[in-house]
Amino acid sequence: MSEERIGLYPGSFDPITLGHEDIIRRASSIFDRLIVAVLINNAKNPLFSVDERVRMIQCVVGDIPNVEVRSFSGLSVEFAKSVGARVLVRGLRAVSDFEYELQMAQTNNIMCPKIDTIFLTTNIRYAYLSSSIVKEVASYGGKIEDFLPEQIIPLVKEKYSKEKS
Ligand code: PNS
Repeated sequence: MSEERIGLYPGSFDPITLGHEDIIRRASSIFDRLIVAVLINNAKNPLFSVDERVRMIQCVVGDIPNVEVRSFSGLSVEFAKSVGARVLVRGLRAVSDFEYELQMAQTNNIMCPKIDTIFLTTNIRYAYLSSSIVKEVASYGGKIEDFLPEQIIPLVKEKYSKEKS
């Protein structure tokens, strides 16, 4: 019997955007199982807690049977090893992403040569999109409907309305 192909898509997902959703849907068709992993990183002062982010991703991609959402701390490659994933998935939006992503992929490959990184080019519709930009727009009361999965929009709005009150 052939070995199960497991991919790991690590990230901050604070919050999941339409660009992330697109990568998850496409990557899920490449692997037998895709694990979407939210990094526990208190240094980043996130808008949503790790549990909230995990639940939000589950809500958006819960219809895809081979996708599992987890949280992790420490190195992505260590988490990949612990779940049996041989491939890390990352989205590439533009040339500006490339340098950092290449550095990370090469460092990860030195630390763990059995693990490779594959890049999916972000759909051109979402090439400009990042969680940070969406948060910036939302913090000024701007329209976020074009950027986020519909289930996530009220949750982001609620965070910023709470901040104001
Ligand atoms: O969504 P992000 O913030 O661009 O994701 C970055 C992430 C979580 C993939 C990256 O910071 C990461 O893998 N962090 C865990 C620590 C680690 O493995 N660092 C890479 C060594 S170069």
